[in-house]
Amino acid sequence: MATHIVSKAFVAMVVLSGVAQGFTDGSETLKFVPHSKTDLKDEISQYQDIADEIIKLSVYGAAQNQSYNRLAEMVDRFGNRMSGTQNLEDAIDYMLDKLKGDGLENVHGEPVMVPSWKRGDESAVMLQPRYHPMSILGLGSSIGTPQGGITAEALVVRSFDELHRRATEAKGKIIVYNQDFISYGVTVQYRTDGAYEAAMVGGVASLIRSVTPLSIYSPHTGHQVYRDGVKQIPTACITVEDAEMMWRMAQRGIKIVLNLNMSAENIGMVTSRNTVAEIIGYKYPEQVVLVSGHLDSWDVGQGAMDDGGGAFISWQALSLIHQLGLRPKRTLRAVLWTGEEQGLVGSQAYYEAHKINISNFDFVMESDAGTFTPQGLGFTGNNGSYEVIKNVLQLLAPINATLISTPADGGDVAFWIQQGVPGASLMNDNSRYMYFHHTNGDSMTVQDSHQMDLCSALWAVVSFVVADLDNMLPRDNPNL
Ligand SMILES: *[C@@H]1O[C@H](CO)[C@@H](O)[C@H](O)[C@H]1NC(C)=O
Ligand SMILES: *[C@@H]1O[C@H](CO)[C@@H](O)[C@H](O)[C@H]1NC(C)=O
Ligand SMILES: *[C@@H]1O[C@H](CO)[C@@H](O)[C@H](O)[C@H]1NC(C)=O
Ligand SMILES: *[C@@H]1O[C@H](CO)[C@@H](O)[C@H](O)[C@H]1NC(C)=O
Ligand SMILES: *[C@@H]1O[C@H](CO)[C@@H](O)[C@H](O)[C@H]1NC(C)=O
Ligand SMILES: [Zn+2]
Repeated sequence: MATHIVSKAFVAMVVLSGVAQGFTDGSETLKFVPHSKTDLKDEISQYQDIADEIIKLSVYGAAQNQSYNRLAEMVDRFGNRMSGTQNLEDAIDYMLDKLKGDGLENVHGEPVMVPSWKRGDESAVMLQPRYHPMSILGLGSSIGTPQGGITAEALVVRSFDELHRRATEAKGKIIVYNQDFISYGVTVQYRTDGAYEAAMVGGVASLIRSVTPLSIYSPHTGHQVYRDGVKQIPTACITVEDAEMMWRMAQRGIKIVLNLNMSAENIGMVTSRNTVAEIIGYKYPEQVVLVSGHLDSWDVGQGAMDDGGGAFISWQALSLIHQLGLRPKRTLRAVLWTGEEQGLVGSQAYYEAHKINISNFDFVMESDAGTFTPQGLGFTGNNGSYEVIKNVLQLLAPINATLISTPADGGDVAFWIQQGVPGASLMNDNSRYMYFHHTNGDSMTVQDSHQMDLCSALWAVVSFVVADLDNMLPRDNPNL
């Protein structure tokens, strides 16, 4: 805390003396001076030419298809990149080289400990009422079964409530959840807590219906959480099709017997890295506008959509600005997170390591919900900063991406936003996102080069303009 106060006082002194850096108007360097609405509009509208240049380069010019092609080169070479694997570390080394080669500054990795989990062989077979091998994916951090697997009768339920009501029937069974898909945010609790809830009533394993509104017999993996003091049982996801079929069979009073066989294993914590690149601000290098996405993925598909797209438009935002020879007043920093899929592990470590400088974090941006046709931003911040971002988004009128909605879709930047740093997430036409999420279908085939160009342009315009405004974005927390 003391450090902030000293640094603020130092900034104020420089402002008051106003000599060395040749300020014409002392007030412009005070961090949180609110503009009148007209001044703000005027200041921001002066960036229309730069915004147009960025859009031209990214969407129509020499950088057309660049973020898509760069992403394809990386994911075709490395495939998926699960935390704890050598493959992810190799991909990070590759990215460090590419970011340096692209002329970005202060390119480095920041070590962080992430969990390592091995999927191993896995299978689930229905033995009764008929032989039917099922497509499954073990859930991240699940333990394995004993050799030969677990053979037990299934108890099929539609909700935790139903499981609690039927608790006396659960002992020794494999709990199968056929929960409805409401939304990812609501329904994902069955993936996160399904094994814990099943173990609480004596279940020996659990299978969840994949969390998706659409299935073509595709299991969707993801993170799950055991709780202290509760028996750990193996857990996997099954397809919507198999979950619904088992539910129908159970409704008919048919006895279902399953064998679940998983050799999954938790290895422990290993070192990974958050990947960082910058364009250093020419006037306030210590103040930061952060753009981000995560480089790690699940161990299925290519991790191109989740979250190769978000990571690569964050690189591209800096790349476009560099290619145009631009440098904003504040530092632009791209952070490609690690350990996101294991529960925001990399971004939390980053927050802990850098929160001492929170007063210099101007704006934090994250793209982790698709890089389809961009519409604008999800935003969290006070009314003053909302007004600024709303005006900045007007610069994206040429690509029709001017919408602002609240709140931001926190994710990896939530730690900063919760403390009052203004933050944003990419709003895009991602209605198909959940079809591919955490499946073998998450590949370059889902991505579109034109859509990525539009997203990159939005990401570059917003981050550049915010980093170049006279003042930092206002925030309410007086300690920031
Ligand atoms: C970008 O990709 C599109 C479609 O694949 C192609 O028509 C266009 O020529 C490409 N642009 C550049 C600059 O390579
Ligand atoms: C369980 O999987 C192991 C390989 O992990 C295999 O050797 C074994 O035959 C399987 N057992 C059954 C019953 O599927
Ligand atoms: C905090 O910011 C200062 C000034 O930019 C920098 O020198 C220092 O390394 C930063 N510390 C951390 C932990 O990020
Ligand atoms: C912020 O804006 C909201 C909605 O526009 C309004 O209801 C609220 O009173 C404003 N708060 C302040 C402190 O201006
Ligand atoms: C602009 O975007 C909005 C919101 O995404 C959409 O409804 C509208 O059809 C778009 N207009 C054009 C001309 O693309
Ligand atoms: Zn993601």
